[in-house]
Amino acid sequence: MKKRDLVKKEYNKKIKQLNFYNKKYFDHNISEISDADFDNIKKEIIKLENDYKFLKSKKSPSNIVGFKPSKNFKKVTHRVPMLSLANAFIKDDLINFEKKILNFLSKNRDFELSYSAEPKIDGISASLIYKNGEFKTGLSRGDGKEGEDITANLATIKDIPKKIKSNDFPEDIDIRGEVFIQNSDFENLKDKFANPRNAASGSLRQKNPDDTKKIPLKFIAYTFGYEKGLKAKNQSDFLKNLDDWGFKTNPLNKIIEGVDNLLINYSKVEKDRIKIDFDIDGIVYKINNLELQKRLGNVANSPRWAIAHKFASNKAISKILNIEIQIGRTGALTPVAKIKPINIGGVIVSNATLHNEDEIDRKDIRIGDIATIERAGDVIPHILSVDKLKRNKESTKFIFPKKCPSCGSKTIKEFNNTTKKEDAVRRCSSEGYDCEKIAIEKLKHFVSKEAFNIEGFGKKIVENFWNLNLIKLPQDIFNLDFKKIENLEGWGKQSMENLKYSINQRKNISLERLIYSLGIRHIGLENAKILSKYFKSFSKFISFSNEANLDDILNIDGIGETQLNSVKNFFGNKVNLKILKELQKILVVKDSINKNKNGILNEKTFMVTGKLNGISRAEVKSLIEENSGSSVSTVTQKLNYLILGEKPTKKKVDKAKELKVTILNQSQFLKMLNITS
Ligand code: IVH
Repeated sequence: MKKRDLVKKEYNKKIKQLNFYNKKYFDHNISEISDADFDNIKKEIIKLENDYKFLKSKKSPSNIVGFKPSKNFKKVTHRVPMLSLANAFIKDDLINFEKKILNFLSKNRDFELSYSAEPKIDGISASLIYKNGEFKTGLSRGDGKEGEDITANLATIKDIPKKIKSNDFPEDIDIRGEVFIQNSDFENLKDKFANPRNAASGSLRQKNPDDTKKIPLKFIAYTFGYEKGLKAKNQSDFLKNLDDWGFKTNPLNKIIEGVDNLLINYSKVEKDRIKIDFDIDGIVYKINNLELQKRLGNVANSPRWAIAHKFASNKAISKILNIEIQIGRTGALTPVAKIKPINIGGVIVSNATLHNEDEIDRKDIRIGDIATIERAGDVIPHILSVDKLKRNKESTKFIFPKKCPSCGSKTIKEFNNTTKKEDAVRRCSSEGYDCEKIAIEKLKHFVSKEAFNIEGFGKKIVENFWNLNLIKLPQDIFNLDFKKIENLEGWGKQSMENLKYSINQRKNISLERLIYSLGIRHIGLENAKILSKYFKSFSKFISFSNEANLDDILNIDGIGETQLNSVKNFFGNKVNLKILKELQKILVVKDSINKNKNGILNEKTFMVTGKLNGISRAEVKSLIEENSGSSVSTVTQKLNYLILGEKPTKKKVDKAKELKVTILNQSQFLKMLNITS
C-alpha cells in the first residue's frame, strides 16, 4: 500500500473510533474510555491533518462541534436551587395535584386556581445571573444545588440579552430558561447526535466558546431563582416582563383555570406539536399567583406549585425477544422486556419495563409477542399492550421466579398494612448486602447524584469494581486501591487521579445526604431530611440503634409506622451497623443545624390538635420550620406549645394541661409570627 493510502487508512480508523466513543457517550451516556485517552485520539487526528494536508473528513473533530463535553468547568452554588418537576400523565394526576394544593392552602374545592400553562421544551436548563442589568454569570443546572460556570458559552447565544436597560429590571436576579436547538437547525447535525437535546447539551459544554458559537442555540426564559427588586405579582406578569426586557418567551404560554380546561389545552397542544419547530415533551402548569407559590413552597426536589403534564404519544411496535428480571436496591424484582431495538422519538429503545408480576398477567404479555412500547420524555419505556392476533404458537408464558435469580433466596410479596392488600411487587427476602444484585444497586445508590454524588463514579464503574472485588460495601469506596485502578483497562493516571479527587471531596457530607445514601427503604430525600433534623449528629443517629426506644421517632411529624419499621429493620442488621461504624471513622459528617437559627421560634416545639381555620396543618408545619421551630406529633414533656383548633382531641388537651404545656389558639399562634388573620 502506498504511504498516502496507509496514512488515510490510519486517519479514517481514528475518526471512526472517536465518533464511536462520542456517540456512545451522547446516546447511552457511557464513557468507555477516559477523557485523557479521548483527547489523545483527538490530538492525533489533528496532528495527522496538519502533517498531511490531503486528509479531510466531514466527521473530523476540527470540523464539528459536539464532541464529548469537558469536565473542566468551575462549580458554582445556585443561590436558589434549580428544582425538578413532578410528572402527571392522566387526569387523576392533575386532580390530585390540585387537591393537594387546595388542602395545603386550606381552600374549598370550589376555589378557582389560575395556572400558567407553558409547553415544556425538551432542552437544557440554564440560570443567568444579572446584576444591575448586566449578564454576569451563566450556570448549567448541574445537580440542582451546584451548577457549572458556562458563562462564555451561554454568552454566544443571541437570544440571551447581555445588557438590559429597562427601569423595572430587578437590580439582582437569576433568569432561568431552556437552551435548545430548533428541529430545522438540527437537520444539519443529524448524523452527529441522536436528537436535538443531546446536540444542545454537547454544544453548551464545549471547552472553546467558538465551537459553541457555530451551533444555532436558542434560549427561552420561563422562571427566576434568586431575585431582588422583582415587582411581578403573577407568573403571567413575569412572562410579560421577560418579553419587555428582551428575552424570548414561549408563544404558546397560556393562563388557564380549572383541570378541565387544562385538559382541553393539553389535547390541542399535543395535536399541534408537530407543527412547532422545537421538541416539547409536555406542558408545565404553574400556580399563577407568586404569593401562593411562595406559601406552597417545595417538597424534596420539586415545588408544590408546579407539575409537568407529559405527552405520551411516543409509541412504537416491536417484538419481545425475552423477559428478564432486574433486582433493585430494595430487593424488588422487576420484569424487563428485551425488545428488538427500535427508534422511539430519536432514542434507540431495547428494554421496556413490565412493572411487576401482576402487570404481566393482567396484560397477558408473553415472550415472542408483538408489543406496543411507549416512551414519554425521560421516563423508562414501558409495554402498553400486546397484539394477541399476531401471537404465534412459539410464544411462551413467563413464569415469575419464586427464588431470587441472584442469590437464590425465597421471593415474597409483602402485606401492605395501609392498603390491607398484598403488594404487587415481589421481593428478594435476603438481607441487603447478602444478595449480589441488591448490594450492587445499593452501592450505585450510595454514589448517585442525590446521595454522595461522587463525580465520575457511574453505574458501570460500580459494577466493574464489584466484579473485581474492589468494592463490596460502602466503606470500601473510601479505601480503594488506586494503584490497581490506574492499571486497569480503560484507566490511566489522569482518570484515576480524577476519581480519587472526587471521592476525597465527598468525605465531607451533610447528615441528611448520608442518611439518604444508606438506602433505607421508605427513607427518601424528604424523610432523610426530617430524620437528620431530629438526630442532629451522626453519632446520635448511630447510638440510636442501641436504644430501646426506637419508637420515639414516631413522634416526629412526617414519620409513620412504615418508616419506623423500615428503620428498625435497618438497625437490626449487623452488616448495616458495621457499615455505620466504618463510615464514622472515615467521614466528616456535618451536624444538621437548623439552617435559620435566628427564627422567632428557635428551639420551640409545636403540635396542632383539631381543625384550623383557613390554614392547613402542612402549612402550619412549614411556617414553624421556616421560623426555626419544630413540629411534633405527640404530647410529651418536650412539647412547648399545643395549638388548639376546632374540635380538639380531649386526651391531648388534658395531657398538655397536666404537663403544663402552653396552649395557644390559632390567632395567638399566628401572632407569634406577626401574621394577622
Ligand atoms: S419551571 C421548579 N418552566 O423542566 C421549576 N421548567 O423537570 C422548574 N422546563 O429543569 C422550572 N419548560 O429544564 C419550568 N416552562 C417551563 C419549562 C421548564 C421546560 C424544564 C426545565 C426543568 C425541567 C423540570
